[in-house]
Amino acid sequence: MAVRKMGRQTRAKAHGSGRVLLPNWVVLFAVLILLLSGKAMCDTDPLDCSDDDDNDGIISTPGVPVCSEEDRNALLQFKASISSDPNNVLADWQASRTNCCDWTGVTCDGSTGRVVRLKLPNQDLQGTLSPDLSALSSLQVLILDNNDFSGTIPSSFGNLTSLQRLCLSNIPSLSGPIPDSFGQLSSLQLMDLRSDALTGPLPSSFGEMTSLRNLHLYGNQISGPIPESFGLLSQLYNADLGHNQISGRIADGFAFGLGSLINLYLNNNKITGLPDNLSNLTSLQWLDLSNNPLESGDAVKGIATAPLISQIELESCGISGPFPAWVSILPQPDITQISDEVTPSLDLANNAISGAIPAALGNLTNLQYLDLQNNQLNGSIPTSFAQLQSLQGFNVSYNQLSGEIPQVSPFITFDKSSYTPGNSGLCGLPLAPCA
Ligand SMILES: *[C@@H]1O[C@H](CO)[C@@H](O)[C@H](O)[C@H]1NC(C)=O
Ligand SMILES: *[C@@H]1O[C@H](CO)[C@@H](O)[C@H](O)[C@H]1NC(C)=O
Ligand SMILES: *[C@@H]1O[C@H](CO)[C@@H](O)[C@H](O)[C@H]1NC(C)=O
Ligand SMILES: *[C@@H]1O[C@H](CO)[C@@H](O)[C@H](O)[C@H]1NC(C)=O
Ligand SMILES: *[C@@H]1O[C@H](CO)[C@@H](O)[C@H](O)[C@H]1NC(C)=O
Ligand SMILES: *[C@@H]1O[C@H](CO)[C@@H](O)[C@H](O)[C@H]1NC(C)=O
Repeated sequence: MAVRKMGRQTRAKAHGSGRVLLPNWVVLFAVLILLLSGKAMCDTDPLDCSDDDDNDGIISTPGVPVCSEEDRNALLQFKASISSDPNNVLADWQASRTNCCDWTGVTCDGSTGRVVRLKLPNQDLQGTLSPDLSALSSLQVLILDNNDFSGTIPSSFGNLTSLQRLCLSNIPSLSGPIPDSFGQLSSLQLMDLRSDALTGPLPSSFGEMTSLRNLHLYGNQISGPIPESFGLLSQLYNADLGHNQISGRIADGFAFGLGSLINLYLNNNKITGLPDNLSNLTSLQWLDLSNNPLESGDAVKGIATAPLISQIELESCGISGPFPAWVSILPQPDITQISDEVTPSLDLANNAISGAIPAALGNLTNLQYLDLQNNQLNGSIPTSFAQLQSLQGFNVSYNQLSGEIPQVSPFITFDKSSYTPGNSGLCGLPLAPCA
């Protein structure tokens, strides 16, 4: 089983050190273009829910701004909805202390006095999320991970249109749907709602969150299909929708415009198939579909049309019949195009694939891991596998293979447990010599 990496950092390439003198207007123009293109140098990086205060580019001067009355009232409403604060973290949230910019967990913009960040993770706060928080109209960062709120995410949160990071993960009683109004969160770059108790389908407005780059919805009970609009999230590079109840064949619209998507985790859902054409997923490198009830191996043949696809997980997908033909035509992207976090690998373990292993698999020379354990494969291990010189892990145990194991490295150095139990007809190193 592959190691899951939850995030990924995109870093601007360092500028070359060669110094070229340019007229000032050229420099100004270049800076303007950079800013307009949204690739400002102080880009949020890394894009996660860490407590690093410096990664929003927000400059605050404690004590200098005096918070707006509207924001103070919204925060007091938030406090009023808290029924238990075991760490007394809200003790200094007092109407008499009028400058809410000094309250624990609150950051204001130094020039406007508006609240731009509210951060109270890991506090065991109980109660509900006050809908009045939506009055914090300049709020850019809301981090309330690892608390004990119950009830739903207020639909008024869709009015937080300046919000860039929304971190409400590990709140085990936070239930109900992702509000339809979230389509209005057009500045949102990071949504982390993993390990909550959210239900219902993803709203059809989902694709309107056009700034979204990093999405974590792992471990909820989100159901229904993925809306077609999802395919419009052109900035999205990481999407973890694993361990939900997402069902059905993923609609063709999904594959339309996800040109930045690198990692897609859909494991442990009720998905039956993918669009046949994923050629617009030009960045996709890692796809995890393990533990889904696929209609057939052919229902995911679109995988072979994603030009950079490198790590494919289809463990326990109920695939039966002969080896899926598309596996033989998988692209072999240049390894230099692949993220360090991605391990070229193919996991088809725990299915019911029968018949021979196709010789063409030996052409997938980038593969570092190949897991075919627990299927109904017969015949021999193709001699073309001698080309798989990058393999570090290999497992064909619990099949009905026979004949000689390719007597070359790395196959002769793998552990016996790569080949047995099962495969009583296999012979040659590391097993007993062939008769
Ligand atoms: C969002 O704000 C608008 C305008 O202030 C208001 O009319 C609307 O009721 C708000 N939406 C929610 C769900 O609170
Ligand atoms: C790929 O994107 C182009 C537009 O960029 C669109 O015309 C085409 O239909 C898309 N193809 C698929 C298979 O979604
Ligand atoms: C997939 O769609 C692209 C354009 O969106 C097209 O150029 C390509 O031929 C299609 N591939 C297949 C296998 O249908
Ligand atoms: C392999 O299994 C298939 C059925 O799945 C059977 O038709 C074929 O004869 C078997 N081949 C060998 C070499 O046992
Ligand atoms: C491997 O790829 C080459 C060239 O791409 C092709 O000619 C050959 O048939 C493939 N091998 C197998 C076993 O399919
Ligand atoms: C291969 O899979 C079997 C069955 O799950 C396991 O017992 C064995 O340790 C695995 N061997 C290797 C080398 O991964």
